[in-house]
Amino acid sequence: MNDTIEFEPTAYHVKKSNQGPALDIRDFNLWYGETQALYDNNLEIQKGQVTALIGPSGCGKSTLLRCLNRMNDLVDGLRIEGQITVDGFDIYGRGVDVIALRKRMGMVFQKPNPFAMSIYDNITYPLRVDGVTKKSILDETVERALQQAALWKEAKDRLHDSALGLSGGQQQRLCIARAVASDPEVLLMDEPCSALDPIATARIEELIEELKGTYSIVMVTHSMAQAARVSDNTAFMYLGRLIEYGDTDTIFTNPQRPRTNDYVTGRFG
Ligand SMILES: Nc1ncnc2c1ncn2[C@@H]1O[C@H](COP(=O)(O)OP(=O)(O)OP(=O)(O)O)[C@@H](O)[C@H]1O
Ligand SMILES: [Mg+2]
Repeated sequence: MNDTIEFEPTAYHVKKSNQGPALDIRDFNLWYGETQALYDNNLEIQKGQVTALIGPSGCGKSTLLRCLNRMNDLVDGLRIEGQITVDGFDIYGRGVDVIALRKRMGMVFQKPNPFAMSIYDNITYPLRVDGVTKKSILDETVERALQQAALWKEAKDRLHDSALGLSGGQQQRLCIARAVASDPEVLLMDEPCSALDPIATARIEELIEELKGTYSIVMVTHSMAQAARVSDNTAFMYLGRLIEYGDTDTIFTNPQRPRTNDYVTGRFG
């Protein structure tokens, strides 16, 4: 493997979806204290498609994903340069309502993290915090979100039981239901299947397939097979840099960069 890093920028956009870009990341740099973790990231994420972020451990996938809904804001000593825009508005711009932004950018984590409350309350909690009290609206939202997360059939007779009684895969689908309840534009998923068995993983992958189109999905994964199965576009990152971005078939079968090829063929990782 050649050890020099490719510094020339790769094309940052892929074939446009018919809906245009959902997110535009431009000249984005990030430091944790003195240490730079992201270098000149440029990436245009298409609406209604699944974009996979891949690359070896520590390359900055979660860091970049967390910037998309400003989850990194609370990290001490964090500094950023560059721009991330959603529908033309700069999410790091002045006066941005971060809570509202996070509703537009639902997040699903590696480990299912339902609240220690009922299934129903897990989904309605964010609405109730917003002051929604009308039972018919709450009921409708619960049914819609659980339907969208392919959990309705299993959960409809136990809505008021604790969410912690669900299996791991069901809990992850509940977290997806919670994320779609506020009808976001983008779903951010950080290794959403890594704590799940193969059957639960397959269900989440099917679900991602169903949800794309309605939502733009950005997913971090360590599984090459998963990225190849579910994503339309793939971004390969290495040491904080975006090395190559393109449609998933090209990245996996005909990558332009030797380092991408080495990674997707399992030569390092
Ligand atoms: N809160 C933090 N404070 C300081 N450094 C951090 C913090 N979070 C991440 N880093 C560092 O930033 C770099 C990128 O980390 P990040 O978690 O984004 O990588 P990753 O690609 O998601 O890795 P993995 O595949 O292991 O999850 C690493 O060197 C990591 O140690
Ligand atoms: Mg990570």
